[in-house]
Amino acid sequence: MAFVIRPYTPPDLPHLYRVCLLTGDSGADASGLYRDPDLLGHFYAAPYAVHEPDLTFVLTDEEGVCGYVLGCRDSMEFAAWMEAVWLPPLRRRYPLPPVGDASKDAAMIRLIHKGYTPSSLTPEYPAHLHIDLLPRAQGLGQGRRLMEVFLNRLRELGVPGVHLGVGQRNVGAVAFYERMGFVRLQTFPWGYEYGLKL
Ligand SMILES: CC(C)(COP(=O)(O)OP(=O)(O)OC[C@H]1O[C@@H](n2cnc3c(N)ncnc32)[C@H](O)[C@@H]1OP(=O)(O)O)[C@@H](O)C(=O)NCCC(=O)NCCS
Repeated sequence: MAFVIRPYTPPDLPHLYRVCLLTGDSGADASGLYRDPDLLGHFYAAPYAVHEPDLTFVLTDEEGVCGYVLGCRDSMEFAAWMEAVWLPPLRRRYPLPPVGDASKDAAMIRLIHKGYTPSSLTPEYPAHLHIDLLPRAQGLGQGRRLMEVFLNRLRELGVPGVHLGVGQRNVGAVAFYERMGFVRLQTFPWGYEYGLKL
C-alpha cells in the first residue's frame, strides 16, 4: 500500500467530511448515528481546511483520501473567525432543535449554535489539531507521519505549543497521543486535554 501525505486542496473537502464521519464515534464509524452526514464535519474538519489550508494535510492511498491532520495555529483567532465567518450561515441552515430532541444531530446543532470555546490551555499551547485515519490506514505508522508533518509546520510558523482534546472512550487515540509525546494536562467528564510544547 503506497501512502502519500500531501497538502490539502479544495477538492479534498468532501473527503474530509467523509473521514470525519467514518471515525466520529470515538474513533469508530459514526455514520449510523447521524441523519445528516455532514454535521460532524461542519464543526470538526471543514472549518480548519477552509481557514488554514496550509495547516491541513491529507493521507492518500490507491483508493483515495484515507486520513487527515488539520488544525489552527491560534485557537483564539480561530474562535473569532468561527463566530464571524463560519458559524453564522450554519446557524441559519440548522435552526436550534426542540429541547426534548435527544438525537446526535440535535446535539451537534446545539454545538454549532453554542460555538467553539477555546481551551484554557490556549495561552501556553495556542494551536490545536484533529487527526483521523480510516481503518485501512491505521496501525501502520501513518498517524505518526501525519503528526510529524503537522508539528513541523507549526514549528516553521513559530508556534510555541499545541493542544488537543480526546474522549476517554477513545483508548487507542489516548495511547497514540502519549506515544507522540503529548502530556495529559486536564481531565473532564468527557475526556482529556493534552498539550505539547514545540
Ligand atoms: C489514533 C490514530 C490517529 C493513530 O494513528 P495510527 O496511524 O493508527 O498510529 P501509528 O501506527 O502511527 O502509531 C504511532 C504510535 O502510537 C501507538 N498507537 C497507535 N494506536 C494505538 C493503539 N490503538 N493502542 C496502542 N498504541 C497505539 C503505536 O503503537 C505507535 O507507537 P510506536 O511508534 O512507538 O511503535 C488513528 O488510529 C485514527 O485515526 N484512529 C481513528 C480516529 C481517531 O480516533 N482519531 C483521534 C480522535 S481524538
